[in-house]
Amino acid sequence: MTNNLYQSLLEKLTAFHQEQILIHWNSLDEPQRMQLAEQINAIDFPQLTRLYQNRDRLFDAAALAERAKEPPAFRLECDGNAISRQDAIQAGKDALASGQVAVLVVAGGQGTRLGFEHPKGMFPIAPVSGATLFQIHFEKVLARNRQYGKPIPLCVMTSPATHEETVKYFAENQRFGLAESDVIVFCQGTIPTVSLDDGKILLAAPDKIALSPDGHGGAITALKKNGVLEKLSACGVRRLFYFQVDNPLVDIANEEFLGYHILAESELTSQAIRKQNPQDRVGNIVSVDGRLHVIEYSDLPDEVAERRKPDGSLEIWAGSIAVHVINLDFLQRQAENAAATPFHVAKKKVSYVDARGNLVKPSEPNAIKFERFIFDLLPLAQNAAVVEVDSSRHFAPLKNASGSPTDSPETVRKQISDYFIEWLTKSGVTVVPDVKVEISPLFANSAETFAEKVLQNGIAAMTKDAYFRTKDDLVS
Ligand code: UTP
Repeated sequence: MTNNLYQSLLEKLTAFHQEQILIHWNSLDEPQRMQLAEQINAIDFPQLTRLYQNRDRLFDAAALAERAKEPPAFRLECDGNAISRQDAIQAGKDALASGQVAVLVVAGGQGTRLGFEHPKGMFPIAPVSGATLFQIHFEKVLARNRQYGKPIPLCVMTSPATHEETVKYFAENQRFGLAESDVIVFCQGTIPTVSLDDGKILLAAPDKIALSPDGHGGAITALKKNGVLEKLSACGVRRLFYFQVDNPLVDIANEEFLGYHILAESELTSQAIRKQNPQDRVGNIVSVDGRLHVIEYSDLPDEVAERRKPDGSLEIWAGSIAVHVINLDFLQRQAENAAATPFHVAKKKVSYVDARGNLVKPSEPNAIKFERFIFDLLPLAQNAAVVEVDSSRHFAPLKNASGSPTDSPETVRKQISDYFIEWLTKSGVTVVPDVKVEISPLFANSAETFAEKVLQNGIAAMTKDAYFRTKDDLVS
C-alpha cells in the first residue's frame, strides 16, 4: 500500500523535479508518511514552478517607480479637501451605528525579527499594565461596540504558525469581553519555501515540508475560503477596517477615516503618514497613470525618493502604515480572481533538513518565500483614496527585538505613553517627567472623551505612573 503511495508521489514529484522531498521516506513510519503525502497533495506544483521561474519579474517595481507621482489625498493641514472633516466624521458614525463595519486584524506573521516565541499578538506591550497587543485591540473594538450599541465583528487572521495558540489564548481570556459570536478567527494559506539556488522545496523535518504563510495578501483568498466574507455580508457588513497586529496605536474604526472612504465612494482607502526622510522604511503610496500603488522602500530608487516639490517637501511623501478600509463587495470580486494580486519574493534565512537528515541553519539567505501583499489591491480599486494621519498618534509598529534602536518593545512603550500623556496635558493635567501613562480604551477611546472625564472628576497633576481603566482610576 505505501509502496504504491510512494510510486504515485514520486511520479508526481519527478514531473516537477521535486523528488528530493521523498529522500527520507524509508526512515519514516506510517503516520509520518501519511502526513508528508498529505502535504505534497496540497501543493500547487505548476504554480510554484511558475513562481520560481519568474522570480525576477513577478513584480516590476522599477517600472512603476519611474512613473510614480504624488497620490491625491485628504491631507491633515489642508483647507482644500473635497470632503470636510465634519462630514467625514458624521458619515463614519452613521456607518458604525448601522452595523456596516467589521474589523480585520492580520496576525499570521512569524514575527522573526521580534524573536518572541508566541504569536506576536500575545506580546505584552502596554507601558503600565503590560496588556498584550491582542488585549489592546480587543478592548478598542469593545469600546466601539459600546459607543455605537452595535456589535462590530472582529476577524483575526492567523496562520498554521500562530493559529492554535491564538485560539487558546482568546478562550482563556474570554476574548477580553467580546462576545464569542463577534470574534471570527480564520487561518490563512501557506506556500512551500524553496531553495534560492535551484527552486527545490525545502524540508523542515524528514516528514515535513517547509511551509510559510502566503503573506498578509493571503487574507483575500482566506476570507473567502473560510466563509468569512459570506458571514459578514449576511450580517449587513459592507466595509472592513484592516490593520496589522503589531501596531498598538491604530485607531480602530476611526470615524473620520471611514467617512472619507464612504463619501469618496472609494473601494479601498489607505492611511498614510508624511515621510520625514526620503529613505524612511515604510511602503510608498504613489499614483501611477491615475491608479494608486504601494512601492516598498527597498524598491524605490533614491532619485525618485529624493524628488522635492517647489516648497521643498518630498514629492513621494505618503508612507503606508498598513491601515485600510476595504469594501466587502470589492474583496468578494478580487477573491474570485486568483491572479488579482501578484506574488513577491522574500529572500530569507530558513533552516532545513538536508539529504543526510541534518538540520542546517544558514548564515546567509538561502531560501525564497513567496508572499502576497494586501496593498496590491490598491490599483484594482475604484476611486482608491489616501487619508493622511499623524504618525506619532497612529503608528507604533512593534517589529524588532528588545534593545533595537527603533520599533522595539522599549520604543513602542514610550510612544504609547507619550501619546496618552498628550491626552492628559490637553485636558489641562500637569504630568511630571518620566511618569508613564496608559489609558484603556474601555475608560476613554479618544482624547475628547478622556478630557470630559477629567473635567467631571477634577484632576490637576499626575505624579506617578498611571493606568486608567475604571472610573476610580481618576481619583489616584
Ligand atoms: P511583517 O511583514 O512585519 O512580518 O507583517 P512579521 O511576521 O510580523 O515579522 P517578521 O518580518 O517575521 O519579523 C506585518 C503584518 O502582517 C501579518 C503579520 O502578522 C503582521 O501583522 N502577516 C504577515 C500575516 O498575517 N501573514 C503573513 O503571511 C505575513
